[in-house]
Amino acid sequence: MVLAPRCEIGDMKNAKLLFATTLLLAACASDPAYDPLDDYEEVSTTGFVDAPTPLVVAPENRESATRGEYLVELLGCGTCHTDGALVGEPNRARLLAGSRIGIAFTSPLANRYPGVVYPPNITPDNETGIGRWSDRQVAEALRAGVGRHGDRRILVMPWQGYAQISDDDAYAIVGYLRSIKPVVHRVPDDVPAGTMAGSPYVHFGVYRSRGLNIE
Ligand code: HEC
Repeated sequence: MVLAPRCEIGDMKNAKLLFATTLLLAACASDPAYDPLDDYEEVSTTGFVDAPTPLVVAPENRESATRGEYLVELLGCGTCHTDGALVGEPNRARLLAGSRIGIAFTSPLANRYPGVVYPPNITPDNETGIGRWSDRQVAEALRAGVGRHGDRRILVMPWQGYAQISDDDAYAIVGYLRSIKPVVHRVPDDVPAGTMAGSPYVHFGVYRSRGLNIE
C-alpha cells in the first residue's frame, strides 16, 4: 500500500487556489488534534513499468544491454524513476527520466511536512540525467547508495538490496542505462523535513512502535 497526502498544492500557477490551499493547510497545522491519516489517501499501484528499449547498441555489447534491460525491469527501477509510476500511472514517454512525484523519508506521524526526495532522471541526458556520471559512479550509486560526489548516502532507494549485484550485472545495468534515449526532464529539488513540498509525494515506510524489544 502506498499513501499519498491529500493536502497538496495542485497548481502553483493558480494564485487563488494556492492562497486557499495555504489557508487550509495553516488551519490543519494549528489543529491540536492532528490525525495524519486525514491528510493521506490510499493509492493503487498495480502497474508494471517496462524498461525502455535500447537505441543503438554495438554488436559486441548487445548481450550485456539485453541483460541490463532485464535487470532494470526485474529490480523495478522504473517504479520510482518514472514519472507517475508511483501512483500507478507511468508516463511512457518519460520512462526512467525521473519522477515529479516524490517519496517522503521521514515519518508523517512525527512531521506534518515530511522530508521528500524526488527520484532523479537516470537517462543519459547530460544536464538533467546521468550523462556526465562515470560508469563507476553509477555502479556505486546502485550498490552502495553513494551520491555522485561521494558525500552522502542516497535516501529511500533500496540500494542495500542491490549491494550483492555482481560486477558484470552492475555494469550491464550501467551499459543499458547509457543505451536508452536521453530525456530532458528535471525533477524538483529535495525538500527538508518541516518544509511544505511544492510537488506531490507518496509515503512508503516501516515505523517501529516505541518500546518494542525484539529478543
Ligand atoms: C524505491 C524507489 C527507488 C527504486 C526502486 C530505485 N531507485 Fe534509484 N533512486 C531513488 C531515489 C529517491 C534517489 C535519489 C535519492 C537521494 O537523492 O537521496 C535515487 C537515486 C538513484 C541514482 C543517483 C542519480 C542521481 O542523480 O542522484 C541512480 C544512478 C539510481 N537511483 C539508479 C537506480 C537503478 C539503476 C535502480 C534499479 C536497479 C533504482 N535506482 C531503483 C529511488 C529509487
